[in-house]
Amino acid sequence: MDRIKIVGGSPLRGSIPISGAKNAALPLMIASLLTPGTLVLENVPRLSDVRMLKRILGNHGVDVTVAGKRIGETGEDGEVVRLSAAAIVDTVAPYELVSQMRASFWVVAPLLARMGEAKVSLPGGCAIGTRPVDLLLMALEKLGASIEIDAGYVIARAPKGLTGGEIDFPKVTVGGTHTALMAAVLARGTTLIRNAAREPEVTDLAECLVKMGARIKGIGTAELEVEGVANLHGATHRVLPDRIEAGTYAFAAAMAGGDVMLEGIAPHHLQAALDKLEQAGAEVIATNEGIRVRRNGHGIQPVDVTTEAFPGFPTDLQAQFMALMTRAEGTSRITETIFENRFMHVQELARFGARIRLDGDAAIVEGIQTLKGAPVMATDLRASVSLVIAALAAEGETMINRVYHLDRGFESLEAKLSRCGANVERIRA
Ligand code: UD1
Repeated sequence: MDRIKIVGGSPLRGSIPISGAKNAALPLMIASLLTPGTLVLENVPRLSDVRMLKRILGNHGVDVTVAGKRIGETGEDGEVVRLSAAAIVDTVAPYELVSQMRASFWVVAPLLARMGEAKVSLPGGCAIGTRPVDLLLMALEKLGASIEIDAGYVIARAPKGLTGGEIDFPKVTVGGTHTALMAAVLARGTTLIRNAAREPEVTDLAECLVKMGARIKGIGTAELEVEGVANLHGATHRVLPDRIEAGTYAFAAAMAGGDVMLEGIAPHHLQAALDKLEQAGAEVIATNEGIRVRRNGHGIQPVDVTTEAFPGFPTDLQAQFMALMTRAEGTSRITETIFENRFMHVQELARFGARIRLDGDAAIVEGIQTLKGAPVMATDLRASVSLVIAALAAEGETMINRVYHLDRGFESLEAKLSRCGANVERIRA
């Protein structure tokens, strides 16, 4: 298994192009199941989760091709992926595939909407806690589906097609909103989705569905109204930039010190995180090109953070912010409200000498002046990149093991950091 070696202490200076968002690319690719036409997605990040989903969709009969490099294209552009589900050859998503990537469970909605049936393995728990799908299934039931659980599989049926209905989410769920949208666009009649997730990735999916012929009102708000249509057609859509990747590098720049331009990202996608970063003492400047983050000389100030659904502070940046707080000049409290067990990075950050104590759903971080490099292990995608942030500011060498978690969600991580002066090297297995 590959490892990443980081020698800390170099400030970051330079530009980092922000990739297309993984969490938008995945539902957008899944939306290709809704139409026999061709969905062309631009700016798709080169990530192992994307590769995995191409395989999963291929299993259902989606023809996936990736455009070759053209003159003038640089490796920094994401891929152009063409997905054509002219015929769905299989409505079963087996355990072997779904268990490798949770988001692939979402195929249940388009398969059911287009084919009237789907049999999809339950995804199971994961490193960040039990992650139920009850609300996703509730949404499908509200649209007339019958749901049965058998031998670890969800069997969803709507032989006469789905019908519009009212879906009231008792809690904000990104996956639930993606599922509801993908089911409702082909249902007969009108669907109201209340307490919908407002994450930019949900908006991106909704906008793409509209290009495919869907009728959706209220995009970007917590109340979506979908008027079902009989068919959708192909479209071309550019995946929005990855706010989590951008926030990660913003925190990394604040941690290591220096001056970094995050190319192609707009502040409104991660305003809550940028506000916290400014309170911590970094300078954040929005320009036409992107967001510039710098910290020169000043210490890092302690700042309390509570994760919330968008537009609040994202849970996917919690681990990275905690890494930054390990070197703050004082004590901060980081509260996780979205996932119950998302603190696995705490014990790994402790290996750098960080002082962190857990108190229910919060971590209390007592900042120290110097972290020391150490061998560490990644447990999930966002946790692993928090170790990279700690390593960039730690004295001496850090070896990060189990890098495949990073490869699931961060495109060209070593290259992006190296070009800003970090001492980062991948050691191939
Ligand atoms: C998505 C993101 C993930 C991010 C999360 C929250 C992708 C591929 N993943 O995950 O990176 O951390 O949003 O922003 O886009 N819940 C239920 N029942 C359900 C569904 C969810 O109780 O049926 C709960 C979850 O346990 C959690 C909360 O709702 O406490 C939010 O989860 P949700 O927004 O659904 O997360 P995902 O869509 O899985």
